Amino acid sequence: MAGTDLYTLYKGVPLPTLIHPPHSLRRYETFTFRPDDILVVTYPKSGTTWMQEIVPLIVSGGDPASVETLHNWDRVPWLEEARSCSLNLDDRPSPRMFTTHFHHNMMPPSFFEVRPKVIYVMRNPKDVFTSTFHYHGMASFLVDPGPQSEFLHKFLKGEVMFGSWFEHIKSWLNDKERVFYISYEEMRKDLKDSVARIAQFLEKSLDNDVIEKIAERCMFENMKKNNMSNYSAVPREIMDNTKTEFLRKGIAGDWKNQLTAAEAEYFDSVYKDNMKHVDYKFAWD
Ligand code: A3P
Repeated sequence: MAGTDLYTLYKGVPLPTLIHPPHSLRRYETFTFRPDDILVVTYPKSGTTWMQEIVPLIVSGGDPASVETLHNWDRVPWLEEARSCSLNLDDRPSPRMFTTHFHHNMMPPSFFEVRPKVIYVMRNPKDVFTSTFHYHGMASFLVDPGPQSEFLHKFLKGEVMFGSWFEHIKSWLNDKERVFYISYEEMRKDLKDSVARIAQFLEKSLDNDVIEKIAERCMFENMKKNNMSNYSAVPREIMDNTKTEFLRKGIAGDWKNQLTAAEAEYFDSVYKDNMKHVDYKFAWD
């Protein structure tokens, strides 16, 4: 099916219509944040599901009840998804935990008035591309990626769901108010230290052994076994886990197995051009 049939253009950004129908986008516009809300913000395929496991465990002081009984999409729901309209989010006790893939300039008015805490997870865009390419091959609500080189050009031009990776990251790096930045690569390198730093940002004091247990539970191989987080509950006609699993490889640098030398070179040149005014030391640079 052509992209135009599957996506809705919202504030100039293509969104998969099946999960972001107009009524859920309208509702997000009028959503009221609380100052102690915790918002996980990511460009898709940057480590969203990972953070949807880590944050509830930190908030609960290591109690695994919610990650064992609630699917990640109900535990830390996406505010732009239709699903969130049926979750009675106003009745949830503080601190509430949410997710969004929105660019900064797409956020609703209440976000700018209330300023909830934001955890912004970023990932080497070449690995984001690699993960996205495989994901598009297994999710029926996304445009068929077609040949890799063509999809790469679309990705670099932002003609994919949630638009340009460059615009997303630049929009969120521009506003540092109550934003904690962390990368997928840092989490891969030292998950325990990452959990400790996230807990500090959330002002949650945790004993060392609790931090260790959280990190252990959130290791790729362990999270993969959690049916509340590995997307195995999604019907095959929506996400076909036999083509590729949602928790696919979970490594940093898989782009080296995916991109040709010419594609990687082209990627780097577009990256350099788009990021030349960005003053931030990324973990992958
Ligand atoms: P890969 O496709 O490279 O394996 P998102 O949740 O934002 O959609 O991102 C999905 C990516 O995060 C996938 O990357 C997935 O495997 C990876 N991921 C999820 N949980 C992880 C974990 N505990 N450790 C490492 N990677 C994880």
